[in-house]
Amino acid sequence: VSSLKGKDLLTLLDYTSEEVHDLVKLATQLKTITKAGKCPKLLEGKTLGMIFEKHSTRTRISFEVGMNQLGGKAMFMHSRDMQIGRGEPISDTGKVLSGYLDAIMIRANSHEMVKELADNASIPVINGLTDLYHPCQALADLETIYENKGTLKGLKIAYVGDGNNVAHSLVVAAAHVGMNVAVATPPGYECDTEIIAKAKNIAQANGSQVTVTYDPIEAVSGADAVYADVWTSMGQEEESAKRLVDFKDYQINDDLVAHAKSDYMFLHCLPAHREEEVASSVIDGPNSYIFEQAENRLHAQKAVLASVLS
Ligand code: CP
Ligand code: NVA
Repeated sequence: VSSLKGKDLLTLLDYTSEEVHDLVKLATQLKTITKAGKCPKLLEGKTLGMIFEKHSTRTRISFEVGMNQLGGKAMFMHSRDMQIGRGEPISDTGKVLSGYLDAIMIRANSHEMVKELADNASIPVINGLTDLYHPCQALADLETIYENKGTLKGLKIAYVGDGNNVAHSLVVAAAHVGMNVAVATPPGYECDTEIIAKAKNIAQANGSQVTVTYDPIEAVSGADAVYADVWTSMGQEEESAKRLVDFKDYQINDDLVAHAKSDYMFLHCLPAHREEEVASSVIDGPNSYIFEQAENRLHAQKAVLASVLS
């Protein structure tokens, strides 16, 4: 996607709908050619620095393998081992890293911090999850739906659970491709109203709708895809007992998915907690695409890396 050269990927809100569409299609193409053993070495000689303030399995490994497959290299850095862990300003860090690296991927607690890094770095900064967004996840999610349904526009996706990072990026991404999105959260766990308002504008321009509700059945009714994330995100562990109570009516189980289309796809960003946000019968059942979805992180991120770096 040539228009993205040199660009950050922080939220997908500053991407056009066409760019999001093109990234999803490019991800599918890169998947096919990678599986045929012909992934192009577009990033030979390039280095991605990866900064993590939090745990990761999929994001870390798929970015590292993706860079390898494209002929480049990736470096893992935990923030506590860097000087930012001892108070070096993120702005200085961004300027210093720009002298060594070709791009930075960062998983951070605070989206504001990632913005500050991006504002001070002269190289592309890719968001690998913040408190507010998880755009790389959303691109892999769309890729998974696109590859299995053959289309995105006009489909309905339902998200049931906490209205935070994964939900926000899913809503924005789905709006870009003209999917109808319904989000059901418990009271007190709603999505950010500004993000929803922006997503509604994007959806309207693409002929689709974003709806928010407290009613999971309403959200899931007639859905082509049903999406779950954990009830307790990284860093919220001390709230987990309260969250188990607050989210108890929001489990994705057989009774709930009976309201979706019979060929609905179950999706989950992972890691998952079986019998909490999703019943085992659903996540391990015939409509679940979770491992294909996890694999697609690799290909969707290659599409991003190739676009911003080559
Ligand atoms: N879905 C996701 O981002 O997984 P990790 O936390 O393992 O990177
Ligand atoms: N909402 C989860 C997503 C993990 C990939 C978290 O922030 O921990």
